[in-house]
Order: sequence, then C-alpha cells, then structure tokens
Amino acid sequence: MSHALPAHKPFELTPEQLKEYVVQYATNPIYLDNEEWENDDNPYHRQLRPQVLPYLDFSRVLPRKEILHYEGLAAQRILTSIYEADLMFLPKGGLKEKWNDFKAYYNPSNRVLGEIIRPSLEKFAFGFLDEEVEVSGQWTKADLETYLRALQDKDLTQPSLSETAIKKSADPVRAAKMWLIQFAPDFLSEASPMLRNVLGYYGAAQSEWFKIIIDEYGYGVHDTKHSHLFERTMESVGLRTDVHHYWQYYLNSSLMVNNYFHYLGKNHELFFRYIGALYYTETALVDWCRRAADLLTEVFGPDVDVEYFTEHVGIDLHHGKMALEKLILPLVEEHGEVIIPEIVRGYEEFQLISDIADRDFATQIAWMDDGPKNKELHAPVWDAISSGRVTAPVANIVEPYRELSNTHCHDGDELCHIVSGTMKFVAGFESYQILEAGEGTVIERNRLHGAIIDSEECVYEIHSVGDYRACL
Ligand SMILES: [Fe+2]
Ligand SMILES: [Fe+2]
Ligand SMILES: [Fe+2]
Repeated sequence: MSHALPAHKPFELTPEQLKEYVVQYATNPIYLDNEEWENDDNPYHRQLRPQVLPYLDFSRVLPRKEILHYEGLAAQRILTSIYEADLMFLPKGGLKEKWNDFKAYYNPSNRVLGEIIRPSLEKFAFGFLDEEVEVSGQWTKADLETYLRALQDKDLTQPSLSETAIKKSADPVRAAKMWLIQFAPDFLSEASPMLRNVLGYYGAAQSEWFKIIIDEYGYGVHDTKHSHLFERTMESVGLRTDVHHYWQYYLNSSLMVNNYFHYLGKNHELFFRYIGALYYTETALVDWCRRAADLLTEVFGPDVDVEYFTEHVGIDLHHGKMALEKLILPLVEEHGEVIIPEIVRGYEEFQLISDIADRDFATQIAWMDDGPKNKELHAPVWDAISSGRVTAPVANIVEPYRELSNTHCHDGDELCHIVSGTMKFVAGFESYQILEAGEGTVIERNRLHGAIIDSEECVYEIHSVGDYRACL
C-alpha cells in the first residue's frame, strides 16, 4: 500500500533537546536576573536564572531526597511561569511601559516553548510521588468513603511545624511575613487551577464544582473574592500585593504546592487525582485557617486583617463536604471503581506535598533566625580550610557594586569567605547579615539565599564543603 501511514510515534524530547528548549524558554528577557530583590508591579517578570540552566539535568525523575535541591527549585520556578501563561495578569498601575513585557510573556513563542518542556519538567518535579505514594488493593465505593471521612474526624487542631517555627522564631513578625509571602502565588490567583476543570461537558458534577468556584470568586463581588480578602491581609501587615512582587522569596516547596494543582488541572488524565487532592485541601484548610487567624493576630496584633482565614473556616467545611458528596461519590457511582485509586492518589500526594512544604518552611525560618550564628561559624570552618585540614572545591568570585545574586540554593553546605569589600548576605525576607573582609558565613544546603555587593568591588570565595559540621 503506497498510502499507508507510518505508525504513530509519541512525542518525546531527547535530553539534549530538552536542555536546549529549557534554555531557549528561560532566556526570554522577562526571565533574566533582576537588579532588585523585589519585582515592582510587573507580573511578567519571573527570575529563572537561565545562566545556570545549561548545567542542570531535567531529563530524569528528581528523587525524593533531592527534592529541595537547586534543580527542584529551578524546575518549580519554570513550571510556575509556564502554567501561569494560561492565567490573565495585568499590572495594578496599568500597562504603560510594561507593554513589551506583557507581549514577551503572552506570545506564541513563550507559550509553545513552555508546552514543549512542560511534560518533562512535570515528570522531573512530580515523578517522585509515584514512588512515595502507594495505592494498592481493591477499593469499593464504601471503602473510599470510610477512608476519606476519617480525615473529618482526625484531630487537626495541632499547630504545624511552620506555625511552631513562627511562634518560636527570634523575629515572629518577620517569620509570619515570610509565611504570608509563601501563599501569594496560590492565594492571589485563588481557584485558578480548579477553573481548568469546569471547562467541558461531564454532567452534574461539573455544575457542583462550579458552585465551589462561585464561592471562591465571592459571587462576582470583588470585595468578597477570596484573592481580594488575602490582599487585605497582606496590606494590613505592610506587604505588597502586586503579583510575584516577592518572587525571589518563594521557597521551592511553596511553588510545588501551587504547581501541584496546576499540574493536575492542566493534565486532564489526572482529573480524578484533582478531586482527591481537592477534598484533602478543603477539609484540612478548616482547622488550618482557624489556627492561622489566631497566629497572625497573636503575632501582628489586632490590626491584622484575618477575614481571609475566618471566611475559610466556614466555607471550606462546606467545600470539603461538597467535594466528597457532590463530586467524588457521584463520580464513582457513575464511572465505577476504576477511578478510585486515582482519587486516593491525589489525596495522599497532596498530603505528602503539604508535609514537605511545612518542613521546608520551618527549616527556612530556623535558617533565617540562625543568621548571626552562621556568621560566627565562619571562623572555625575557615580555620579548617585555611589550615589545610579540610580541602573543598572553591570558586573565586569578583563582583562590582550593587551586583545582586538572585536567590537560589545549593545542594551541599558551603562556606562564603569575603577576601575584600562588603557583602549583604540575604537569607530570606528582611533577613540579612553584613559580611566584611575576613568574615563570611556558612550556607546551609537547600536553604534559599542571595547576596548583594555593598562596596565598590567585592572579592569572595565559595568553598563547597559539603557538610560544614565535618570541618568543626
Ligand atoms: Fe478560598
Ligand atoms: Fe474553598
Ligand atoms: Fe549561593
């Protein structure tokens, strides 16, 4: 047969193609390093540090134990940018001189490059869940209901690690601001990922889901839209609400939490996972919001606007119930037990991701609090290096005045040693140490940080010691 079609071949990138397209995507001018710590009312600027991307390998599954490594952070930052190209963002102060950035973000090249690399990045960033979460055995609808309802009876009143970290922090106000910043990617465009699931045609469940969305959108009254309530919380403690103003302060796992829902919503083969994760999040949010309102009031005093949180105590009780009774159970009834493992998987996966984020944030607060201690640790670690007792790979760096190392993290501990000049070393929002010649700091693995040069020039060394405790 001369007109026979070739056999269908699934689309797949080679590792080399993946790298090439990732770099091509991220070298869009809107993704280059910033000269400031914060973005200024420009929702299209997202620092992706493209200069590092040629050295990263996204053509594999990042194992659980490496999930907080730099490659994980880089992938989550890129994924956020890709997913959000489906969302509509406009600067608060109007487009005016941002017209070119608007076009650089919303254009076919950015969109297509993003879509080409997205499946590989998703596999890289979320593939570990396959190994971490096991769903086995034969599930009936009754089993599923019992299993899911157990969450409603669970005691969720205990504070999370993050909440405890804020309470016990050397600077609870700073810690609580850092906490609110972590929610901005999710809460400022609240419910956008789930809106991906109400397009189409799939029966009564579709309209039930739409009811949840109507609540999230405050019934079309902007003042009661959940994202707007969160803006008021941010403003009441002096934080900015322009989209991704604090991009450089987002932790890897905070982006992961938000990206997870986009990942499920964007890929409709994961629809049933989404409803499992939805049930988990709406149900767990009830107690979480109650605790958050109390904690924020305790930290900031009575002037903090916590309506976002108190509103959710009531509405999410309702949403959790709806997710179970109007979405999950009717859909199982209609489509059979084949969808149950996916629902359970979504529930379990999001629980795991929430736990990773909780630990990551608590660790970051400890890292910020330990700034002075880490600066003191420079002396003994430097002693081990300069005496030759420890040898580690070293990078010698010279940077000019105002050079800003956009935030990042390292996969092992490092020692920063200042040879000459002055560096402002930043370990998180409003958290820094000034390092002068002869001084320095230990940089803990996986911890978000950045730096800016405060002198005409700064000469410094980065020693990759791996585990700083081995130098003591
Ligand atoms: Fe909400
Ligand atoms: Fe909700
Ligand atoms: Fe660094």
